[in-house]
Amino acid sequence: MSKPFDMVLFGGVGDLALRKLIPALYRAFREGSLKEGCRVLPVCRHQKDADQYLQTAHQALQQYLSDGEYCSSIWTGFSQLLRPISLDISVPDEQWEHLSDILSSDPQRVRLFYLAIPPGVFGACCENLSAQGLISKNSRVVVEKPLGYNAQSSDEINSKIASYFPENNIFRIDHYLGKETVQNLLALRFSNVLFEHLWDAKSIDHIQISISETVGLEGRAGFYDETGAMRDMVQNHLLQLLCLIAMESPNSMTAKNIRAEKIKVLEALRPLSGAKVDEDVVRGQYMAGEINGQKVPGYLQDLEGDASATETFVALRAHIDSWRWAGVPFFLRTGKRMEKRCAEIVVQYKKVSHHVYGEDAGHVIPNRLVIHLQPEESIKLVLMAKKMDSLTTELQPAELNLTLSDTYDSFRSDAYKRLMLDAAANNSALFIHRDEVAAAWAWVDPIIEHWRETNDQPKPYPAGSWGPQEASELLARSGRHWFNAK
Ligand code: BG6
Repeated sequence: MSKPFDMVLFGGVGDLALRKLIPALYRAFREGSLKEGCRVLPVCRHQKDADQYLQTAHQALQQYLSDGEYCSSIWTGFSQLLRPISLDISVPDEQWEHLSDILSSDPQRVRLFYLAIPPGVFGACCENLSAQGLISKNSRVVVEKPLGYNAQSSDEINSKIASYFPENNIFRIDHYLGKETVQNLLALRFSNVLFEHLWDAKSIDHIQISISETVGLEGRAGFYDETGAMRDMVQNHLLQLLCLIAMESPNSMTAKNIRAEKIKVLEALRPLSGAKVDEDVVRGQYMAGEINGQKVPGYLQDLEGDASATETFVALRAHIDSWRWAGVPFFLRTGKRMEKRCAEIVVQYKKVSHHVYGEDAGHVIPNRLVIHLQPEESIKLVLMAKKMDSLTTELQPAELNLTLSDTYDSFRSDAYKRLMLDAAANNSALFIHRDEVAAAWAWVDPIIEHWRETNDQPKPYPAGSWGPQEASELLARSGRHWFNAK
């Protein structure tokens, strides 16, 4: 993005802004992608003055940047781009004039309206932007997941936004798509002849996609208890990863082509409803336990509220009814307060058809491609090799390992930085189309509906574990097991 742009950050003191967006903007400034002349306008309802905001942003950087990233001279430059605005977004009064004055001083600029606010106020915010004449032809709106609570509420929110912004100017963020290794999935699949020919039911036994977290509610109890892991993680992050792993090759890497292929995957997902949900989906809730030697309370204690049947863990088996994936199960899993923080995809290949080395050759395990998305970003291929220094033909597993942070000196990925700069540059390849959101809800809704109808209670699991026993049984029934991060 060469020309300076304006970014209006609604929800300027919210958790997302302070934890992720301000650090991402700081990093963009430090590397020179956010140029001097750009203006960042954090909008806050209760901020008294600009100095107070700068102090809050400064503290957030010191708290959330990694070691060695903060530098006071960079902060001095970056802080000059910040122009905090005090404004109640739901009220159409004269407070908007200040924002309007700043933006209209350079009307040709790209304007990015980042709605880091609850979806319930997206409509009012867009309506007021429009009423104040602030939506120019160069304006784009960026919105965060989860978009709505189910297909219907998501459709209502999308329709509301669509009455003010055309689809091309709506950037729906799923920050997983901004992670380097997630983008690398497509490079790995479609730029290497090695994998694509072995990427189907003929070669692959099953695929696991896991996102485990050690954190609990992180001060978001109210939001989380209404949302649960299915809406918070499965409907968006996990299904997006599934799409990238399972989709056909797009003709080119344009947003339109990528989206078309992702939608085909979502539409080919075999529906899970009624009794099938009990069979193929496990939901859990964490109890008190221990993580990294520290005792942590259970979900209900974290909630400080009444009993709750909200799930903090989901594991499920999905099938994609397509020529490529017929008969290959996809196991998806996510949970809070688990043993390790890790996001990883495991492609488990089938066994070799015949053991030429015979039974004595050692334990021959099928090949496995393991793509770690975090905390470290790496790609590992588990192969069988001859055991070295052995006079026999004994075999042993060996690993080809590409750790991105070791390989590339300056590697430090920031998904939000990438996505914000993409939105400013009008590059929508890594954003979600309205139809994708709808297709994802269409698959997820009947599962949640079944839980509601049957008053399903989540299975307890101790904090610091890999989830309820039933999640292991889901795979054990077909002689498989989860590959838990070490
Ligand atoms: C967010 C969820 O979308 O993703 C959070 O709302 C979750 O509950 C977070 O903790 C995980 O993101 P990351 O990048 O830390 O894996």
